[in-house]
Amino acid sequence: MSAGHIHPVFDRLVDRATREALLRQHSCALWFTGLSGSGKSTIAIALERKLVEMGYLAQVLDGDNIRSGINNNLGFSEADRVENIRRIAEVTRLFVQAGVITLNCFISPTRAMRNMAREIIGADDFMEIYINTPLAICEQRDVKGLYARARRGEIRDFTGIDAPYEAPESPALEIKTENRTVEECVDMIITHALPRIQLEA
Ligand code: ADX
Repeated sequence: MSAGHIHPVFDRLVDRATREALLRQHSCALWFTGLSGSGKSTIAIALERKLVEMGYLAQVLDGDNIRSGINNNLGFSEADRVENIRRIAEVTRLFVQAGVITLNCFISPTRAMRNMAREIIGADDFMEIYINTPLAICEQRDVKGLYARARRGEIRDFTGIDAPYEAPESPALEIKTENRTVEECVDMIITHALPRIQLEA
């Protein structure tokens, strides 16, 4: 495919700072990574609600939704997961340019995938949040019944069972969910992210 006939118009668009001023916030991507069932989406949904109540425009992007739409042609092979994350990162970049705070909930199991996302979105706009819930607990909860199916061999390449998960080495924030309520997790993230998203007076 040739890019020769593509003429980007970004230089003619209203710039990001103008949009951020309109929305009274700095935009960025809060990138949640963790095992299936670790609580990424539950925490992000509660966080989205809280941020909106506080007057910030935030949008959850999560695996189960994105995979039923824009990425409905992708599975869970290593290559498909890379493509899943690549497209999500590109979409996220557009949201962030539009001034929106995104809450990205994707397993994004390898450091290489998350580094790619960081590069596409831009390191300054990328905050990695490790939702650290031990595999044993995710499996015990098994909200979607997928771990049981993976153990029976009905689902292949399941993260944490027969596909790898590489924990982040130096996330901006690590949330150990064990013995914490959703509200406590949300408050930890707000405390950490608020200085980044508040527009100086
Ligand atoms: S990622 O690895 O490409 O980042 P993503 O976050 O989009 O994954 O999707 C993960 C969700 O897909 C899980 O929460 C689970 O509901 C579902 N799923 C289905 N098959 C698998 C699998 N083989 N491994 C992990 N998650 C799976």
